[in-house]
Amino acid sequence: MVKKLVRDVSFSIKRKDENKKEYIEEFTLECDESMTILQALEKIKADKDGSLTFRRSCRASICGSCGMFVNNRSRLACRTKVKDMVDFASKEDLVLAIEPQKNQPVIKDLVVDIQPFYEKIEKNNPYVQEGKETIVEVDKTSYEQVNMVSNCIMCGNCYSDCTAMVENSDYLGPAALAKMFRFVADPREGQKKSRLKQLSKKNGIWDCTRCGMCVDACPKGVAPMEAI
Ligand code: FES
Repeated sequence: MVKKLVRDVSFSIKRKDENKKEYIEEFTLECDESMTILQALEKIKADKDGSLTFRRSCRASICGSCGMFVNNRSRLACRTKVKDMVDFASKEDLVLAIEPQKNQPVIKDLVVDIQPFYEKIEKNNPYVQEGKETIVEVDKTSYEQVNMVSNCIMCGNCYSDCTAMVENSDYLGPAALAKMFRFVADPREGQKKSRLKQLSKKNGIWDCTRCGMCVDACPKGVAPMEAI
């Protein structure tokens, strides 16, 4: 049987307390090669500091709640292994940096306020609308287009890594625009033109800088930039 490598890893975690004070706290944990970032955080919470706060639910890259900024990129904690972030074979001390997602207000530790993210989707009617432009027949190509963006789990990682969002927090962002593409591409949508008119306004599709960060950040291969 192949023996798993075990190493002490220092988790440098950006925290924010109830008085809104931000600070970095380091926890050292023995990790093996199979451990995910989420498992490490749960162990830290269970054994070292019960006040450490983060979101998670499914532990299987489905619910989208464990998005966080790990070693300078937004990732799902349940999908990212510790050994993929640090080199277990290195002779150096292993340090891994974890912060809350970017472009969103931090509530506590690794938990951000996701309300603005959801509002941007909600205000653009995220459902198929009735109207004259409806085509009843759904062909394979349009199904594939719709299906690609339907894989979004709303984790917010694309929103967090979006460089246009850094400059303009009113920008709709990659997740909302990819979601809107899902309806524009749907043959059953009856209001395509008015949707596109709306999305062409300020803070819409033309604010995308096509940097490609959202494509890299998406854990489900949605490629929001291509949808935009
Ligand atoms: Fe659900 Fe990570 S816990 S996606």
